[in-house]
Amino acid sequence: MKANNPIGVFDSGIGGLTVVKELIKQLPKEDIIYFGDKAYFPYGDKSKAVITERAKKITDFLLEQHCKLILIACNSASAAAFDVVKEKTATEALAANVIDPAIKFLQENFNGKRIGLLATRQTVNSNVYQNKIKQLNSRITLSALATPVLTLAIEEGFINSEVINVLLKEYLACEELQNIQALMLACTHYPLVQKQISAYYNNAIPIIDPAVVVVSQALKDLSDHDLLNKSGGRRCFYISDDPAAVNSNIRLFFPEIIAFEYLRI
Ligand code: DGL
Repeated sequence: MKANNPIGVFDSGIGGLTVVKELIKQLPKEDIIYFGDKAYFPYGDKSKAVITERAKKITDFLLEQHCKLILIACNSASAAAFDVVKEKTATEALAANVIDPAIKFLQENFNGKRIGLLATRQTVNSNVYQNKIKQLNSRITLSALATPVLTLAIEEGFINSEVINVLLKEYLACEELQNIQALMLACTHYPLVQKQISAYYNNAIPIIDPAVVVVSQALKDLSDHDLLNKSGGRRCFYISDDPAAVNSNIRLFFPEIIAFEYLRI
Protein backbone atom coordinates (compact mmCIF):
# COMPACT_ATOMS: atom_id res chain seq x y z
CA MET A 1 0.00 0.00 0.00
CA LYS A 2 1.28 3.42 -0.92
CA ALA A 3 0.00 6.83 0.15
CA ASN A 4 -0.51 7.97 -3.45
CA ASN A 5 -2.70 4.99 -4.34
CA PRO A 6 -6.42 5.69 -4.79
CA ILE A 7 -9.36 5.10 -2.44
CA GLY A 8 -11.93 2.72 -3.94
CA VAL A 9 -15.58 3.37 -3.13
CA PHE A 10 -18.67 1.46 -4.19
CA ASP A 11 -22.43 1.37 -3.91
CA SER A 12 -25.33 0.02 -5.96
CA GLY A 13 -25.87 3.36 -7.67
CA ILE A 14 -25.58 7.06 -6.90
CA GLY A 15 -26.11 6.83 -3.11
CA GLY A 16 -22.44 6.30 -2.33
CA LEU A 17 -21.75 9.68 -3.87
CA THR A 18 -23.02 11.27 -0.66
CA VAL A 19 -19.97 9.67 0.97
CA VAL A 20 -17.71 10.71 -1.91
CA LYS A 21 -18.88 14.29 -1.46
CA GLU A 22 -17.70 14.17 2.15
CA LEU A 23 -14.46 12.43 1.11
CA ILE A 24 -13.73 15.30 -1.27
CA LYS A 25 -14.44 17.76 1.55
CA GLN A 26 -12.26 16.13 4.20
CA LEU A 27 -9.62 14.55 1.94
CA PRO A 28 -9.38 16.71 -1.20
CA LYS A 29 -5.92 15.41 -2.09
CA GLU A 30 -6.98 11.79 -2.40
CA ASP A 31 -7.50 10.03 -5.74
CA ILE A 32 -10.90 8.31 -5.77
CA ILE A 33 -12.26 5.48 -7.91
CA TYR A 34 -16.02 5.14 -7.58
CA PHE A 35 -18.01 2.19 -8.83
CA GLY A 36 -21.82 2.37 -8.99
CA ASP A 37 -23.24 -1.10 -9.56
CA LYS A 38 -26.30 0.16 -11.41
CA ALA A 39 -26.77 -3.12 -13.31
CA TYR A 40 -27.55 -4.75 -9.96
CA PHE A 41 -29.48 -1.86 -8.38
CA PRO A 42 -31.22 -2.04 -5.94
CA TYR A 43 -29.01 -4.01 -3.57
CA GLY A 44 -31.64 -3.53 -0.89
CA ASP A 45 -33.90 -6.17 -2.40
CA LYS A 46 -31.12 -8.65 -3.28
CA SER A 47 -30.06 -11.65 -1.24
CA LYS A 48 -26.90 -11.68 0.83
CA ALA A 49 -25.45 -14.19 -1.67
CA VAL A 50 -25.95 -11.92 -4.69
CA ILE A 51 -24.59 -8.83 -2.92
CA THR A 52 -21.58 -10.82 -1.68
CA GLU A 53 -20.83 -12.04 -5.21
CA ARG A 54 -20.95 -8.47 -6.53
CA ALA A 55 -18.87 -7.14 -3.64
CA LYS A 56 -16.19 -9.74 -4.36
CA LYS A 57 -16.02 -8.82 -8.06
CA ILE A 58 -15.92 -5.08 -7.36
CA THR A 59 -13.26 -5.58 -4.69
CA ASP A 60 -11.13 -7.54 -7.16
CA PHE A 61 -11.42 -4.67 -9.63
CA LEU A 62 -10.53 -2.04 -7.02
CA LEU A 63 -7.56 -4.10 -5.85
CA GLU A 64 -6.37 -4.36 -9.49
CA GLN A 65 -6.44 -0.55 -9.48
CA HIS A 66 -4.14 -0.69 -6.43
CA CYS A 67 -6.65 0.94 -4.08
CA LYS A 68 -5.16 1.39 -0.61
CA LEU A 69 -8.59 1.58 1.02
CA ILE A 70 -11.87 0.02 -0.09
CA LEU A 71 -14.81 1.85 1.38
CA ILE A 72 -18.22 0.22 1.02
CA ALA A 73 -20.40 3.32 0.71
CA CYS A 74 -23.56 1.30 1.02
CA ASN A 75 -25.33 0.03 4.12
CA SER A 76 -26.88 -2.97 2.34
CA ALA A 77 -23.48 -4.17 1.09
CA SER A 78 -21.81 -3.29 4.41
CA ALA A 79 -24.40 -5.47 6.17
CA ALA A 80 -24.19 -8.33 3.68
CA ALA A 81 -20.57 -8.43 2.60
CA PHE A 82 -18.15 -6.45 4.77
CA ASP A 83 -16.54 -9.58 6.26
CA VAL A 84 -15.90 -10.97 2.78
CA VAL A 85 -14.45 -7.69 1.53
CA LYS A 86 -12.23 -7.46 4.58
CA GLU A 87 -11.00 -11.00 4.08
CA LYS A 88 -10.33 -10.33 0.37
CA THR A 89 -8.42 -7.11 0.93
CA ALA A 90 -6.33 -8.82 3.66
CA THR A 91 -2.97 -7.06 3.75
CA GLU A 92 -3.36 -5.58 0.25
CA ALA A 93 -5.68 -2.74 1.29
CA LEU A 94 -7.65 -1.37 4.22
CA ALA A 95 -11.37 -2.07 4.25
CA ALA A 96 -14.10 0.14 5.70
CA ASN A 97 -17.87 0.18 5.88
CA VAL A 98 -20.50 2.79 6.67
CA ILE A 99 -22.07 1.00 9.64
CA ASP A 100 -19.34 0.76 12.30
CA PRO A 101 -18.59 4.51 12.45
CA ALA A 102 -22.34 5.20 12.54
CA ILE A 103 -22.82 2.86 15.52
CA LYS A 104 -19.90 4.48 17.35
CA PHE A 105 -21.43 7.91 16.73
CA LEU A 106 -24.82 6.77 18.06
CA GLN A 107 -23.26 5.23 21.15
CA GLU A 108 -21.26 8.39 21.90
CA ASN A 109 -24.07 10.84 21.28
CA PHE A 110 -27.43 9.14 21.71
CA ASN A 111 -27.01 6.51 24.42
CA GLY A 112 -30.31 6.03 26.29
CA LYS A 113 -32.32 7.53 23.43
CA ARG A 114 -34.95 6.13 21.11
CA ILE A 115 -33.60 6.25 17.57
CA GLY A 116 -35.47 5.64 14.33
CA LEU A 117 -33.60 4.14 11.42
CA LEU A 118 -34.45 4.26 7.71
CA ALA A 119 -32.79 1.69 5.47
CA THR A 120 -33.28 -0.88 2.73
CA ARG A 121 -34.91 -4.27 3.38
CA GLN A 122 -31.51 -5.94 3.26
CA THR A 123 -30.13 -3.70 6.00
CA VAL A 124 -33.25 -3.86 8.17
CA ASN A 125 -33.65 -7.65 7.86
CA SER A 126 -29.96 -8.22 8.61
CA ASN A 127 -30.50 -6.63 12.06
CA VAL A 128 -26.91 -5.46 11.81
CA TYR A 129 -27.51 -2.20 13.68
CA GLN A 130 -29.45 -3.91 16.50
CA ASN A 131 -26.84 -6.64 16.84
CA LYS A 132 -23.94 -4.22 17.02
CA ILE A 133 -25.77 -2.05 19.53
CA LYS A 134 -26.46 -5.13 21.65
CA GLN A 135 -22.77 -6.06 21.57
CA LEU A 136 -21.96 -2.65 23.06
CA ASN A 137 -24.45 -3.17 25.91
CA SER A 138 -25.85 0.13 24.77
CA ARG A 139 -29.04 1.66 26.16
CA ILE A 140 -30.09 2.86 22.71
CA THR A 141 -33.52 1.71 21.55
CA LEU A 142 -33.51 1.31 17.82
CA SER A 143 -36.60 1.06 15.68
CA ALA A 144 -35.94 0.35 12.01
CA LEU A 145 -38.17 0.80 9.00
CA ALA A 146 -37.43 -0.46 5.47
CA THR A 147 -38.15 2.28 2.93
CA PRO A 148 -37.28 0.73 -0.44
CA VAL A 149 -39.43 2.99 -2.62
CA LEU A 150 -37.60 6.02 -1.26
CA THR A 151 -34.32 4.54 -2.54
CA LEU A 152 -35.83 3.90 -5.99
CA ALA A 153 -37.23 7.44 -6.25
CA ILE A 154 -33.89 9.00 -5.30
CA GLU A 155 -31.92 6.82 -7.72
CA GLU A 156 -34.36 7.92 -10.44
CA GLY A 157 -33.48 11.54 -9.69
CA PHE A 158 -36.72 12.61 -7.96
CA ILE A 159 -34.80 14.57 -5.40
CA ASN A 160 -36.50 17.93 -5.34
CA SER A 161 -39.86 16.59 -6.33
CA GLU A 162 -43.22 16.29 -4.59
CA VAL A 163 -42.87 12.50 -5.01
CA ILE A 164 -40.40 12.52 -2.12
CA ASN A 165 -42.75 14.41 0.20
CA VAL A 166 -45.57 11.98 -0.58
CA LEU A 167 -43.33 8.99 0.19
CA LEU A 168 -42.01 10.58 3.37
CA LYS A 169 -45.53 11.30 4.59
CA GLU A 170 -46.43 7.61 4.21
CA TYR A 171 -43.21 6.16 5.59
CA LEU A 172 -42.48 8.54 8.45
CA ALA A 173 -46.01 8.19 9.80
CA CYS A 174 -45.42 4.45 10.42
CA GLU A 175 -45.79 3.03 13.91
CA GLU A 176 -42.07 2.15 14.07
CA LEU A 177 -41.03 5.79 13.89
CA GLN A 178 -43.29 7.31 16.51
CA ASN A 179 -41.75 9.12 19.50
CA ILE A 180 -38.20 8.88 18.18
CA GLN A 181 -35.59 11.34 19.43
CA ALA A 182 -33.35 11.16 16.34
CA LEU A 183 -33.44 9.53 12.92
CA MET A 184 -30.52 7.67 11.38
CA LEU A 185 -30.24 7.68 7.58
CA ALA A 186 -28.92 4.14 7.16
CA CYS A 187 -28.96 4.14 3.38
CA THR A 188 -26.45 6.31 1.56
CA HIS A 189 -29.14 7.50 -0.87
CA TYR A 190 -31.18 9.20 1.86
CA PRO A 191 -28.98 12.21 2.70
CA LEU A 192 -29.99 13.48 -0.74
CA VAL A 193 -33.44 14.18 0.70
CA GLN A 194 -32.31 15.11 4.22
CA LYS A 195 -33.80 18.61 3.88
CA GLN A 196 -37.27 17.22 3.19
CA ILE A 197 -36.94 14.74 6.08
CA SER A 198 -35.94 17.53 8.48
CA ALA A 199 -38.85 19.62 7.23
CA TYR A 200 -41.27 16.73 7.94
CA TYR A 201 -40.12 16.84 11.57
CA ASN A 202 -40.15 20.68 11.63
CA ASN A 203 -36.41 20.44 12.36
CA ALA A 204 -37.34 19.21 15.84
CA ILE A 205 -35.12 16.09 15.90
CA PRO A 206 -31.59 15.44 14.61
CA ILE A 207 -31.48 13.68 11.24
CA ILE A 208 -28.18 11.80 11.15
CA ASP A 209 -26.17 11.44 7.94
CA PRO A 210 -23.21 9.25 8.97
CA ALA A 211 -21.04 10.34 6.01
CA VAL A 212 -19.09 12.81 8.18
CA VAL A 213 -18.11 10.20 10.77
CA VAL A 214 -17.51 7.54 8.10
CA VAL A 215 -15.00 9.78 6.38
CA SER A 216 -13.43 10.97 9.66
CA GLN A 217 -12.83 7.30 10.51
CA ALA A 218 -11.31 6.69 7.04
CA LEU A 219 -9.05 9.70 7.54
CA LYS A 220 -7.93 8.32 10.89
CA ASP A 221 -7.31 4.82 9.48
CA LEU A 222 -5.26 6.21 6.59
CA SER A 223 -3.33 8.50 8.89
CA ASP A 224 -2.63 5.67 11.38
CA HIS A 225 -1.12 3.67 8.50
CA ASP A 226 0.78 6.65 7.13
CA LEU A 227 -1.27 6.48 3.95
CA LEU A 228 -2.59 10.03 3.53
CA ASN A 229 -2.04 11.42 0.05
CA LYS A 230 -0.76 14.98 -0.08
CA SER A 231 -0.63 15.49 -3.83
CA GLY A 232 -3.56 13.72 -5.55
CA GLY A 233 -7.15 14.66 -6.29
CA ARG A 234 -8.03 12.70 -9.46
CA ARG A 235 -11.45 11.08 -9.50
CA CYS A 236 -12.94 8.40 -11.78
CA PHE A 237 -16.57 7.36 -11.74
CA TYR A 238 -17.60 4.02 -13.23
CA ILE A 239 -21.02 2.49 -13.60
CA SER A 240 -22.04 -1.05 -14.55
CA ASP A 241 -24.98 0.00 -16.77
CA ASP A 242 -25.75 2.65 -19.36
CA PRO A 243 -24.30 5.90 -17.94
CA ALA A 244 -26.63 8.12 -20.00
CA ALA A 245 -29.48 8.06 -17.49
CA VAL A 246 -27.21 8.94 -14.57
CA ASN A 247 -25.13 11.49 -16.44
CA SER A 248 -28.19 13.49 -17.43
CA ASN A 249 -29.15 14.45 -13.88
CA ILE A 250 -26.14 13.72 -11.71
CA ARG A 251 -24.54 17.13 -12.13
CA LEU A 252 -27.54 18.80 -10.57
CA PHE A 253 -26.55 17.43 -7.19
CA PHE A 254 -22.90 16.46 -7.69
CA PRO A 255 -21.21 19.20 -9.68
CA GLU A 256 -17.84 17.65 -8.77
CA ILE A 257 -18.58 14.75 -11.07
CA ILE A 258 -17.87 15.22 -14.71
CA ALA A 259 -19.36 11.98 -16.04
CA PHE A 260 -19.78 8.30 -15.33
CA GLU A 261 -18.03 5.86 -17.59
CA TYR A 262 -19.47 2.45 -18.40
CA LEU A 263 -17.51 -0.45 -16.97
CA ARG A 264 -18.65 -4.03 -16.99
CA ILE A 265 -17.55 -6.07 -14.01
N1 DGL B 1 -27.31 3.09 -0.99
C1 DGL B 1 -27.40 1.76 -0.58
C2 DGL B 1 -27.49 1.56 0.91
O1 DGL B 1 -26.88 2.33 1.62
C3 DGL B 1 -28.14 0.77 -1.44
C4 DGL B 1 -29.53 1.04 -1.86
C5 DGL B 1 -30.05 -0.04 -2.73
O2 DGL B 1 -29.38 -0.36 -3.72
O3 DGL B 1 -31.12 -0.60 -2.43
O4 DGL B 1 -28.10 0.65 1.40
